[in-house]
Amino acid sequence: MNVRWIAVADGNELSETASRRILAASEHAIAERGSFLVVLAGGQTPLGAYRRLRSAETDWSRWHVYFGDERCVPENDAERNSRQARDAWLDHVAIPAEHVHAIPAELGAERGAAAYAALLRDVGDFDLVLLGLGEDGHTASLFPGHEWNVAGADALAVVDAPKPPPQRVSLGAGRLSRAREVLFLVTGESKREAVTRWRAREALPAGAIRPSAGVDVLIESALLASP
Ligand code: 6PG
Repeated sequence: MNVRWIAVADGNELSETASRRILAASEHAIAERGSFLVVLAGGQTPLGAYRRLRSAETDWSRWHVYFGDERCVPENDAERNSRQARDAWLDHVAIPAEHVHAIPAELGAERGAAAYAALLRDVGDFDLVLLGLGEDGHTASLFPGHEWNVAGADALAVVDAPKPPPQRVSLGAGRLSRAREVLFLVTGESKREAVTRWRAREALPAGAIRPSAGVDVLIESALLASP
């Protein structure tokens, strides 16, 4: 499977490039199929791209937003990935509220995962999946040494995540791979070791995302050079 490493100078260029790619994917999907199914990444890295999308010119009514993972904290908690995406972007544009499919992680990991798996049953392949990379090679809430659901249920309960909070809901690697395009966003020196291991083809959660078209990794160029 192809991993295409796309170097950008810094976080600013990463946000700019990512927002342009998200918009381009949406234009293509809307022209081809009339709708755009996008899965958002959690964490800090994508927030700059999300903010830029506030001013995008697009038919927001065609957008359908899903999440790759969610943290099991109360519904409006500032640590929720969905809340951060809403604050940065979604609450500032005209995406119909019923098109934003937050993971009900406030129900707890097990019930939240079951509810989201049920919702995804009627959803086809995603047009674009955005993902981050953790220091240990995790992506979404798929952690090394844990279940990644390469072929299992669409969503899984995570109860002892090494990154807080310990309880999370994540889409499985198989479901995240059912996408026309997958785009990882990676910045920060703390990611260097994970990037090196991924490039060396070690078995990491990030490497378990294997859509047929391969994945693109937008990455700060310094992380591809020797330290
Ligand atoms: C989360 C995530 C997680 C994240 C990476 C990178 O809920 O924390 O979805 O997989 O994307 O840990 O996080 P940063 O972008 O903050 O480095």
